[in-house]
Amino acid sequence: MTADPASPAPTAARARGWDVYAIALEDDPHPRWGALREREPVFDAGGGVYFVTRWALVDEILRDPRHRAGIGVAASFGAETGLVHDVMRAWLMSLDGAPQQRARDLVRREFTPRKIEGLRPLIAQIADRLVAQIEAAPPESTIDLVPTLAFALPSEVIRSLFGIPVDEWKNGIEATILSAGSGPNDGITMIEGLARDFDARLRSGRIPDGLLARLCQPDPELGALSPLEVVANAVLLVTAAIDTTAGLIGNAIACLLERPALLERVRREPARVAAVVEETLRFEPSALSCSRTAGVDLELEGVAIPAGSQLLLGLGAANRDPRRFGDPDRFDVDRDLSGLVSFGGGRHFCLGAALARLEARVALERLLVDGTFDYTIGGAVGGGPESASGPRWQKRNPTIRAHESLPVVLRPRVRAESRES
Ligand code: HEM
Repeated sequence: MTADPASPAPTAARARGWDVYAIALEDDPHPRWGALREREPVFDAGGGVYFVTRWALVDEILRDPRHRAGIGVAASFGAETGLVHDVMRAWLMSLDGAPQQRARDLVRREFTPRKIEGLRPLIAQIADRLVAQIEAAPPESTIDLVPTLAFALPSEVIRSLFGIPVDEWKNGIEATILSAGSGPNDGITMIEGLARDFDARLRSGRIPDGLLARLCQPDPELGALSPLEVVANAVLLVTAAIDTTAGLIGNAIACLLERPALLERVRREPARVAAVVEETLRFEPSALSCSRTAGVDLELEGVAIPAGSQLLLGLGAANRDPRRFGDPDRFDVDRDLSGLVSFGGGRHFCLGAALARLEARVALERLLVDGTFDYTIGGAVGGGPESASGPRWQKRNPTIRAHESLPVVLRPRVRAESRES
């Protein structure tokens, strides 16, 4: 499977070569990635792992059909038998060739552009409710936008799509995800917990009307996913959908709040929200890497790579390659963003890209354009002496760039027109 953004790789006990992941957990990984991109764009990390950071190389590898699915996180999990192993072998990201195409076509039925656009009212309704709760906080108080919006929105959207009752979701699937730490077995425990939950639902026959039921439905030409494939892809959809989108929403909010002039411009021209989301995907993408297994012997930038090696593709590094995106450390919503690799590429291109973009746009519109508050990053949530102040990046999963905490101070918004009068 790929070094997927869906699953936390343990920070301890990471196998040789995969320790190059650790750069991603620094507060600002971009300088070290930048240095590698300039000096060793194909970095031999040891253990048969090669870390690739230049955009053109990453893009070429993603599109090259000779390469197979990667084994990134699975390798670092060390799950060689058991349910987690079976699930990770069966989900889309691990498959190649015709089996991958068939399974992908079956899962993709639920992610067509029409179906995703049809979710706009649901997403808007959830975002409105969450923003109303945020705006109910007293002025000058501090609120953390991660649990209240950035995480809450994608979690609630995917819960609704699965049709799982709120209590069951909060106490089961969401609790399993939130309890995952950075210990060596935490990733395994999380995947296992989710797999057991979906497996039990399938076996009980009490399948809620929603994604799980539709994953079980056969297609006249493609046949049906096996029960293991249904469980595996349900686990994949849940894990792929939440932390990544939470990261995108939090990163986009932070990028705007840090640039008041741009925020003012976006408020005057709300159509720019889409460009903010796209530039966030480049500047601070929430999925930092994915992987492929080299299908043939390669020579890249003078580095000989034997077939069977793991190509760890630095998406976050490639998106700041000055050869592709000029002045890459500047957040610029007017730039040409074609060629973004933030959702991977080729046959494994993210199935949820349109959904994630839609959620992020709606979140920004509702909170920062239509909302009645201004927000300043900072402050300590809870206010206790030991509560850390300011934003914090998550440190559990080196494939994800997301805030663990994004505290903001709320103030009623002074609208431009009322300031002028
Ligand atoms: C900002 C949010 C997201 C980001 C940055 C992201 C990023 C990625 C990346 C980098 C990959 C690997 C692609 C490759 O190997 O070429 C991927 C795969 C995948 N993503 Fe996403 N993703 C996001 C949201 C979602 C959502 C909301 C869903 C579904 C509800 C989803 C479902 C999937 C699936 C099913 C795959 C596997 C596709 C395959 O192997 O054929 N993702 N995603």
